[in-house]
Amino acid sequence: MNYKHLIDLNDFSQSEWASIIQLALKIADNPGEYYGSCHGKIMATLFYEPSTRTQMSFQTAMLKLGGRIIGFDNPQNSSVAKGESLKDTIVVVSGYADIIAMRHPMEGSAKAASLYSNCPVINAGDGGHLHPTQTLTDLVTLSREKGRLSHLTVGLCGDLKNGRTVHSLIKALSQYEGNTFVLISTKELTIPPYVKEMLVQSHIPFTEVLSLEDAIPELDVLYMTRIQRERFSSEEEYQQQKDTYVLDPEKLSKAKSDLKILHPLPRVDEIDYRVDDDTRAIYFKQTLYGVYARMALIMSMLGSFDPAPPLKGTPLEQKCSNPRCITSSEAYLPPSYKEHEGALFCEYCEQRQG
Ligand code: NCD
Repeated sequence: MNYKHLIDLNDFSQSEWASIIQLALKIADNPGEYYGSCHGKIMATLFYEPSTRTQMSFQTAMLKLGGRIIGFDNPQNSSVAKGESLKDTIVVVSGYADIIAMRHPMEGSAKAASLYSNCPVINAGDGGHLHPTQTLTDLVTLSREKGRLSHLTVGLCGDLKNGRTVHSLIKALSQYEGNTFVLISTKELTIPPYVKEMLVQSHIPFTEVLSLEDAIPELDVLYMTRIQRERFSSEEEYQQQKDTYVLDPEKLSKAKSDLKILHPLPRVDEIDYRVDDDTRAIYFKQTLYGVYARMALIMSMLGSFDPAPPLKGTPLEQKCSNPRCITSSEAYLPPSYKEHEGALFCEYCEQRQG
């Protein structure tokens, strides 16, 4: 059986996303009406990487829907510690559960899991690659709190290279008319080439700037992110980047009165605590929308089937050149590449080859 998985946002059409967002907003208005909608269903949350909000909001969502939860939040407490492969874990768990939400440090890991799963798989973050359910949360938040998803000047600030929430959000907001991106980061932490290529090819206007202070007056939305310490190859490199951007009341005084400040959280020190009381700061509200977003998603995905083949690229024998790709740690995975304008891209992690 070929289930419909959520690995990347483009696994769902624009109209499917629109209905999921509408459903999430209806649930937000009247959560009690949906209690019990998933009675008798089981969700497995497999978290190979730390998480507070994503894992607990998935669990809260399923419990509110009347379903139950199995899973692990520390793979060292599972057979992964004995050397079990991702494939074997997924084959087994997908026999127990009706839906799986998984987070893993390797890029393309959710795609890999989907090849062997007997139930729908949701990507709850695959290394520095993608995080589509955080983006769904962001879209639900903006729909309600900003009133629109189009014609926005969106500033994204911080670790744009390793921040998977940033990659998924840019992909998603590029689908809506009239959005402009202001990418605020150091030169070392700019967005990855595959995201930039998508912006260029889709003729989406964007600028790359160094100063948050200079960029802030023009923004409708400011998406702050932490510097992703765990994705740096050395502590020294992290130390050079940390503390570069701090949103404080002084900088905020230059912003529009209807600016909305989002952050996927956790915050390290990139938002001064004094900003929390500003009505423009909606990052804690955003965490509540995350529960409604995931309730809507689970309801929509349970029992969904996909006619498309799980791998759509060309099965070449060559190994992906990205050391952080799941194919480098799980050797049985069939390599697969998509061709675009003469270049090859790994189908798991999307890294350009060669
Ligand atoms: C983000 C993540 O895990 O990618 N957090 C989240 O899911 N809410 C952001 C981060 O870790 O910085």
